[in-house]
Amino acid sequence: MQTFPGERLEVLLAHSEIKHRVESIGKRITMDYDGKALLLVGILKGSFVFMADLVRSIDLPVAVDFMAMSSYGAATKSSGVVRILKDLDHGVDGRHVVIVEDIVDTGLTLNYIYGHMRSRGAASVKICSLLDKPSRRQVAVPLHYKGFEIPDEFVVGYGLDVDERYRNLPDVCRLVQE
Ligand code: IMP
Repeated sequence: MQTFPGERLEVLLAHSEIKHRVESIGKRITMDYDGKALLLVGILKGSFVFMADLVRSIDLPVAVDFMAMSSYGAATKSSGVVRILKDLDHGVDGRHVVIVEDIVDTGLTLNYIYGHMRSRGAASVKICSLLDKPSRRQVAVPLHYKGFEIPDEFVVGYGLDVDERYRNLPDVCRLVQE
């Protein structure tokens, strides 16, 4: 993978390891939601690669939808106020929802989405995140399904970006600025 000037990538989680973990989360969800109407809600854009692999690891009738959020910027970041850029296409009334996220950092984004989803009449709401940076947490969010805990380092790849770059890397990599 070509990097940009002044940047270096170090593999933190190889694709084979991620694949194995995603498959086991998919199996777990398959068991937990047997006989239920499951809706996976991906948070754009970072979750799109994880979502694509996860949904194929779930052996149930499952619907998929996406939301896109934007924080109101640095000034209000600590308040956790986020704006919905793209809402769900359909309501969640009576559905069992699993929110699919790439990474939980401060927890502010997911805290907002979790509360919002629970107020919309879903039968149940759970959270699934590929990555978790627990050392950065500002608000507690329940992580019902979790791929990997990682240290406080900026990572890219497998859907995660820096300024829209590196989303297409198959591995999750540390981004080292030189
Ligand atoms: P939170 O609201 O602080 O938990 O922010 C979560 C969002 O921040 C994620 O959905 C990512 O878009 C972004 N983010 C946090 N840490 C990283 C990282 O290490 N690499 C890329 N994006 C990140």
